[in-house]
Amino acid sequence: MSAPRIVVLTGAGISAESGVATFRDSGGLWEGNRVEDVATPEGFDRDPDLVIGFYDARRRAVASARPNAAHLALARLEGAVGDRLLVVTQNVDDLHERAGSERLVHMHGELHSALCTTCGVRRRCDAELAGRPPCPVCGHRTLRPDVVWFGEMPYGLDRIEQAVLACDVFVSIGTSGAVYPAAGYVALAAAFGARTVELNLEPSDAAVPFDDARTGPATVLVPAWVDEMLSASSKR
Ligand code: APR
Repeated sequence: MSAPRIVVLTGAGISAESGVATFRDSGGLWEGNRVEDVATPEGFDRDPDLVIGFYDARRRAVASARPNAAHLALARLEGAVGDRLLVVTQNVDDLHERAGSERLVHMHGELHSALCTTCGVRRRCDAELAGRPPCPVCGHRTLRPDVVWFGEMPYGLDRIEQAVLACDVFVSIGTSGAVYPAAGYVALAAAFGARTVELNLEPSDAAVPFDDARTGPATVLVPAWVDEMLSASSKR
């Protein structure tokens, strides 16, 4: 029997041990900032410099962070099972990529991408946006962070939903299950027969109970789970 089809959903918790702040834990990003000021189109229209400064600061924090054992374990799993794995991340950091993951969807956008509000193009952008660099396509100095804000449509939904419907195993890592549509994927996967697993520091308030809910740090749980998957696959 071939390797199972696996969808892994990650949230801020997988990057926490790399020193990247989560949102809703104590000391999280939503403690020191108002969502409506820095994570909505209206907030950007009101004060673009405040919003750009917020994301440039997050970009700097991520630049000094390193992928941790959990990111590396998922890249190792991809190396073993290839296109049987899809990682769907709510995170905008590039730690999955820097760990080696390639089969990856950033459904909430990316810090290292910019969106032009004049021509609509999305482009990789390593420069901080506070300098208001010109759009590489239309030249206008109208780039914004290419991050999906509340009220905006997440990226890759068709691809994600097709993968969730077809998967044999759905694993949720380090997410509170507070934001849809990501929070609804466990119910969708379960409804279509997948085995569902949660790896989290504490149980999330998931839409439906997971078949297998494990609590602990991602850097411990994820490598152990990947070892289990690879060991089971080798016995097939
Ligand atoms: N190991 C595993 N899980 C952890 C760890 C850790 N070391 N540290 C924290 N967690 C878990 C917490 O228990 C919590 O369930 O990570 C989760 C963090 O939850 P949030 O801060 O809500 O982050 P996330 O679930 O990714 O938020 C989803 O909300 O604000 C929006 O767009 C933003 O993508 C984000 C979305």
